[in-house]
Amino acid sequence: METRMERIEKDIEAIALFTATPGSGITRVTFSEKYIRARSYIIEELNSLGARISATLGGNLRGRLEGTEKGTACVMMGSHLDSVLHGGKYDGVAGVVSALEAARVIVEEEIPHRHPIDVIVFAEEEGSRFGSGLIGSRAWTGHLSLDDLPHLRDNEGMTYLEAMERSGVLTDDPSVLEAKDVKAMIELHIEQGIVLEKRGLQIGLVERIAGIRQFLVTIHGVSNHAGGTPMGLRNDALQGAVRIIAETEEIAAHTVGDPTVATVGFVICEPGQFNIIPGKVQFPVDIRDPDSRRLDETAKRILAAVERICLHRGLTFEVTPKSDIAPVALSQEVSSLIDKVARRKGIEPLRMTSGALHDSSIMAAITNVGMIFVPSKDGRSHCPEEFTEIKDIKLGADIFLDAMVQLSS
Ligand code: HGY
Ligand code: MN
Ligand code: MN
Repeated sequence: METRMERIEKDIEAIALFTATPGSGITRVTFSEKYIRARSYIIEELNSLGARISATLGGNLRGRLEGTEKGTACVMMGSHLDSVLHGGKYDGVAGVVSALEAARVIVEEEIPHRHPIDVIVFAEEEGSRFGSGLIGSRAWTGHLSLDDLPHLRDNEGMTYLEAMERSGVLTDDPSVLEAKDVKAMIELHIEQGIVLEKRGLQIGLVERIAGIRQFLVTIHGVSNHAGGTPMGLRNDALQGAVRIIAETEEIAAHTVGDPTVATVGFVICEPGQFNIIPGKVQFPVDIRDPDSRRLDETAKRILAAVERICLHRGLTFEVTPKSDIAPVALSQEVSSLIDKVARRKGIEPLRMTSGALHDSSIMAAITNVGMIFVPSKDGRSHCPEEFTEIKDIKLGADIFLDAMVQLSS
């Protein structure tokens, strides 16, 4: 029993065509036309296997291969198809395609399984459209309530539910997913780091996923004439912001230190003209750490810097929380199953912590989750240069398939 590399490659290349930025990476935001075409590709493939297709609460896609024992908890496998802006073609897709290929082999080889096996495509994992990640899995597991969803709007002001309905994704099953419904889940994902490649290893086994704290900082100053306003009479919002941003790096890199990371991904400066002193600046802060205490300390120090620098410069500020997801330990039981399967194939998986977040972070709250990492070339991800060897995805998918067959038997 093994997966077929040429089909994995074909799926990845086919899905990579669904991008709004051809030639400059993958841009496939949730419920966009490109997203729906990629989703439809998976649906067609699942339909050909006789899977029962449905959309869950939160707009996730679910393709079910019925088990021999009705009513038992299912075993899930999957990841996401939505991308960051100008991202790579393997992030999320490697996991969805591995799940699809595993489903093909299970059906073609008529491998018996008691438990239903669900192929899942989680919606809005990246948060590229609605400004907060893991929305599909959080809505499905009740981590986000239905009244939260109308507040999640894209840049055009469209709510998550409006965008979902307008794209033709209609919830078939509005129930909240509970622990009793799921026996276990496995997600295969590219590492998005350089550890496996540096050590010449092919398979990682994720033991822990870092927590995340994201907030949007808005600094208000006084717009004024760039020529007529002496330096001593300015309340320049951008001058305050740049000092806060520099201190953000200092706090993460030195004060709190490794493995804490903090990123400011963009700056919006208004009015944004040569000859006007900026009156308003917005920038996001994204903090990650596998330890919640350090996560809290880093956030606290950065927010204290916002307050101190604004006070000193006669600026005011607002902080809008965007994401707050705790670090999670993944299932030892599923991890040791994956470990055993890998060793039987002569592979010793490297136990790792994931700095990137995944829907597995949310699913781990209600079921036993395991994650398999495959190497990222040069450790690059969230960029057009993202690359993973198909042979590595195939190896990961073979281990994934074996573990799924055991979990569902
Ligand atoms: O940001 C992350 O960690 C993931 O790629 N959504
Ligand atoms: Mn990502
Ligand atoms: Mn991802």
